[in-house]
Amino acid sequence: MPEKSSWERFFDAHAAIYDRNEFTSNTQYEVDFLINELGLAAGATILDVGCGTGRHTIALAERGYRMTGLDLSAAMLAKAAEKAQAAQLEVTLVQADATNFSFTERFDAAICLCEGAFGLLSQGDDPIEQPLAILNNISRSLRPQAMAIFTVLNGAAMLRRYQQADVIAGHFDPITMTEQAIPLEGQPVVAARERAFVATELRLLFRLAGLEVRHIWGGTAGNWGHRPLDLDEIEIMLVAQKVAEPLSWR
Ligand SMILES: C[S@@+](CC[C@H](N)C(=O)[O-])C[C@H]1O[C@@H](n2cnc3c(N)ncnc32)[C@H](O)[C@@H]1O
Repeated sequence: MPEKSSWERFFDAHAAIYDRNEFTSNTQYEVDFLINELGLAAGATILDVGCGTGRHTIALAERGYRMTGLDLSAAMLAKAAEKAQAAQLEVTLVQADATNFSFTERFDAAICLCEGAFGLLSQGDDPIEQPLAILNNISRSLRPQAMAIFTVLNGAAMLRRYQQADVIAGHFDPITMTEQAIPLEGQPVVAARERAFVATELRLLFRLAGLEVRHIWGGTAGNWGHRPLDLDEIEIMLVAQKVAEPLSWR
């Protein structure tokens, strides 16, 4: 068995209480928003990357979508499976690393929400290669013209929150745009980093993966909307469309 990554250990330990986090309390509103944005009829297939305890996977399955949830953490997936069973819903749950997966099926849409893997870096991960690998895998899993919706950490807010003293103390690295993950009470301390992004680099990374960004909106959990991104909000929402296969440039 390969050694578990930092984030896998973190979420395995956090799974039992994940759904108690305040930011998970708007799932029904978020699912309405997703359905409206994706414009797909019931029966369409949706891939949820970094699906966690399956809060969007299950709620979308309840609305008639054929859902596949992918996550690194067996404990998070076990929670998703429990919920699916309780609701008597059939969903496909896959344990995999988002930087290293492929499906033969082409999905009608993808979601990757609340940093579902995107920008959750283990200590050795490269800050460009990690998100690009995830985008390439998602892009290859989509049918032409399919839509994908992401929420990712907002680089402007991260830059404005930290001071030079934090850089010197090693809490924030402006070169990789990462902050050290803060251990949660009662959880194991893991050497993991969270990567934030600015909108221009996101457009470029998405384009390399064959995904054209159609909208950038404020995407902080609990405050999604068709509105401009606020400089200090935690998350950016991106709505992108598959327009090409990922560029192979090396
Ligand atoms: C903050 S949770 C978000 C879960 C869910 N999307 C939501 O909105 O509640 C991040 C999820 O990403 C998963 N994750 C982290 N790194 C991953 C990776 N490299 N591949 C797949 N999943 C990963 C974690 O296990 C965790 O379930």
